[in-house]
Amino acid sequence: MAKSVKKGMAKADSVVMELTGISRWYGEGAAKVDVLKGVNLTIPTGKSVAIVGPSGSGKSTLLHVAGLLDRPDAGEVIVGGMDVAKLNDDNVAAIRNASCGFVYQFHHLLREFTALENVFLPMTIGGKKPDLARAEGFLKAVGLGHRMGHYPSQMSGGEQQRVAIARALMNKPRLLLADEPTGNLDPHTADEVVDMLFGLIKNEGMSALIVTHNMDLAGKCDLVYRMDEGHLAKA
Ligand SMILES: Nc1ncnc2c1ncn2[C@@H]1O[C@H](COP(=O)(O)OP(=O)(O)OP(=O)(O)O)[C@@H](O)[C@H]1O
Ligand SMILES: [Mg+2]
Repeated sequence: MAKSVKKGMAKADSVVMELTGISRWYGEGAAKVDVLKGVNLTIPTGKSVAIVGPSGSGKSTLLHVAGLLDRPDAGEVIVGGMDVAKLNDDNVAAIRNASCGFVYQFHHLLREFTALENVFLPMTIGGKKPDLARAEGFLKAVGLGHRMGHYPSQMSGGEQQRVAIARALMNKPRLLLADEPTGNLDPHTADEVVDMLFGLIKNEGMSALIVTHNMDLAGKCDLVYRMDEGHLAKA
């Protein structure tokens, strides 16, 4: 095997995602807003990466690009040696479903489904038979074993956030993406959710990309970056 191919394969194993020269803008001409201005970021396998920075600096925009929910206007999103940003929508959706788990800034649970149903839903979307035991296991791990049959409206904000975390882990994603996972929680619940999140990430051998204003949470990550007006740099 050629040395360069071997090197490429080794890199694909040690790196979950590589973002190079990512730019994102809205509008055009005088109204053009440059939100991301040539961002480079490598997410190593099994590592957690935090992004901190002021409101409006482009953190969520970058997270949506990394989570394959949005496409960059320029730059590459390399997963498994392939530029995912250039694939068609169906192929991107398949890769997203198989490799990314998302915890949103506002948890986005489906109101008409119970906690347990919300957790195993990603599996059914991926066309797999829902693994009820795994879903129940995650709900127990986040301390909600007694709440499986409850609907979102019957749970507190922190409980709903914990359901959202269990849901994001359900498909064994290689990469967990979280946007302010503790943003709407009181400090005590935030600590609990953070400990639980890191316990689950380590157990499952996942990588994580976490946007946060919570410095305790950022401090627990292996790498911390700061976003400033669309530029990303090591903090
Ligand atoms: N569809 C859009 N059209 C125009 N501008 C947009 C659009 N979406 C986002 N922006 C702008 O991009 C900038 C970055 O937004 P983003 O949501 O990434 O910020 P953020 O760093 O996550 O902020 P916060 O900490 O408040 O969540 C903001 O100035 C926002 O107004
Ligand atoms: Mg944001």
